[in-house]
Amino acid sequence: MTATLFSPIKLGPYTLPNRCAMAPMTRNRAAAGNVPQALNVKYYEQRTSAGLIITEGSQVSPQGIGYPNTPGIYTAEQVAGWKKVTAAVHAKGGHIFLQLWHVGRISHPSLQPAGALPLAPSAIKPAGQVYTFQGMQDYVAPHALTTGEIPAIIEQFRSAAKHALEAGFDGVEIHGANGYLLDQFLRDGSNTRTDGYGGTIARRARLMLEVTEAVCGVWGGNRVGIRLSPLQPFNDVRDSTPEETFSFVVRELNRFNLAYLHITEMGRDAPGVAGPAFDLLKLRKIWKGVYMTNSGYDLARANAAIGRGDADMVSFGAPFLANPDLPARMEQGVPLNTPDQATFYGGSEKGYTDYPFMS
Ligand SMILES: Cc1cc2nc3c(=O)[nH]c(=O)nc-3n(C[C@H](O)[C@H](O)[C@H](O)COP(=O)(O)O)c2cc1C
Repeated sequence: MTATLFSPIKLGPYTLPNRCAMAPMTRNRAAAGNVPQALNVKYYEQRTSAGLIITEGSQVSPQGIGYPNTPGIYTAEQVAGWKKVTAAVHAKGGHIFLQLWHVGRISHPSLQPAGALPLAPSAIKPAGQVYTFQGMQDYVAPHALTTGEIPAIIEQFRSAAKHALEAGFDGVEIHGANGYLLDQFLRDGSNTRTDGYGGTIARRARLMLEVTEAVCGVWGGNRVGIRLSPLQPFNDVRDSTPEETFSFVVRELNRFNLAYLHITEMGRDAPGVAGPAFDLLKLRKIWKGVYMTNSGYDLARANAAIGRGDADMVSFGAPFLANPDLPARMEQGVPLNTPDQATFYGGSEKGYTDYPFMS
């Protein structure tokens, strides 16, 4: 029988009831100290019917912060806050992975400890502006990490992975996408280093692979996922040879026997902006494990992709944000609520926990 979005799937040690994942989504609603709070518990608990919930990006260290009120995973208070989220999701039989995040240069001194410069592979100022507590401000030229400073970054990911384990998550997703730190290292538009972490594709991929190794050391590979965005120009990233770069990374990632590879196709509608376009299915063919795809999917496209074998799972962002019971609605053909962009980032219940369930 052909698999559909509603077929169960083995993911690492888990059997998920469906292939419909909730994509990671930053919602800027953590309490003081970047601590998850009761409101966040309710939001995730409402969405437990996802085969897998992937949380919003959660910074691995104070330097990893790029936006106001995003939750972290580096203090005891943050771990205690996340524990309430995982307990609520587990009480309803759900599965939840935490997305481990370091924004790199996509930050601002006003968001950094002691007003320091954000960190990056190279001192290249990204185009655009950053949302700060003082409103929109220009990005700054970041501090290029010295070779000697890189082990501390890997340690931050390792320590965050341990905290995630303590907080009761079922696994973690390494955020290697969307122009944040690991993606900045990977792509030659943001990495012009001449040490062991720059130059060739293998050297640009090195930090991502060393972080993956560290995180797998804590969790075992089969409870770790990774997200990549090969066509995504967001946050001013590009690469001169994305097909070669991402083929190399996916081939190398195979050795960790990860729970899944999560590819977002974001950027496919602006071909060429992040570098020469290529067919992402080539990565699906290189990857030996569970392949999750994302971006702009609806039920028909998701079932077509799964049916053809182009993907094993599909993650939904905006549709899940606006529909706490998305899988059931899709399965029963019930119309979806429309996402309200004005309440995506920041605020409280409105546009967060008040989207109606189907009656
Ligand atoms: C409000 C919002 C916040 C997001 N935050 C994150 C994030 O923290 N980490 C991430 O990898 N992607 C993030 N994304 C991207 C989504 O995971 C997803 O790739 C994107 O929404 C496309 O999928 P969709 O068409 O199903 O919405 C965010 C998207 C939205 C709408």
